[in-house]
Amino acid sequence: MTTDRHIWVDGQPGGLIPADDPGLLYGLTAFETMRCYDRSVFRLEDHLDRLAASAEQLEVPLPPRALVAEEIRTRAEPDSALRYTLTAGGRRILQVEPIDPSRVGAPMRVARVEWEPSPWLPGLVKHGSRAAWIIAARRLGVDEVILVDRQGNLLEANRSNLFGVRDGVIRTPALDGRLLAGVTRGALLDAARQAGLPLREGPMPQDEGYDELYCSSTLKELAPIAEMDGRPGPGGGPVGAALLAAFRRLVANETGG
Ligand SMILES: Cc1ncc(COP(=O)(O)O)c(C=O)c1O
Repeated sequence: MTTDRHIWVDGQPGGLIPADDPGLLYGLTAFETMRCYDRSVFRLEDHLDRLAASAEQLEVPLPPRALVAEEIRTRAEPDSALRYTLTAGGRRILQVEPIDPSRVGAPMRVARVEWEPSPWLPGLVKHGSRAAWIIAARRLGVDEVILVDRQGNLLEANRSNLFGVRDGVIRTPALDGRLLAGVTRGALLDAARQAGLPLREGPMPQDEGYDELYCSSTLKELAPIAEMDGRPGPGGGPVGAALLAAFRRLVANETGG
């Protein structure tokens, strides 16, 4: 198990990014955050697909898939988080660090902000231009901001997808180009179907009165929203617990854990 943070640039430990890399200067980067469970990186092929799609949209050079997969597989260690970044200047950055177990599923504080993704940078792209979201979360004193469209529908959070429960039915926004196709989101949907849990993909009006509300992502899996806009959030409950249990079974099956 890795105990430290490690970084490689173009396969070299440490490594340097040229000061004129447009990735650094303008935030023109595509990246993936992955998790190695017991023996393997969870849904690596999905991450590689999404990285390729993001790189194409951002016009960031895409190295051969086999090279990227090889670098990730070689450096992955049990219970590690891996972040792979492609810069517009053509650099490949790989960061590996131990999973912080206290972050997995930890209750979250969020605040809602109105947000419409730019048509030039669709929500499906996993890009590194995150200053606006980071500053919003900092100023509002929360872990993440929840993006709400002009019609008052919840889209996603700035590092997570959203899941709600209303009258026993699991809800999550449909992939309409305005939110990221989270790998965890996809796996949670697979797990819900396998477990026969009622599920509806579609609009999630912010005022629907959810019984349970969660953020999902690679590093947090399914985390209850304990506080929203400074007031108690719906938090977790029995349906989310069943969904998380089904997700853990799926992960164990797929990663041999
Ligand atoms: C904007 C956004 N939405 C959703 C997610 C969740 O994606 P995944 O489940 O692939 O980690 C992330 C992850 O970082 C994200 O940045």
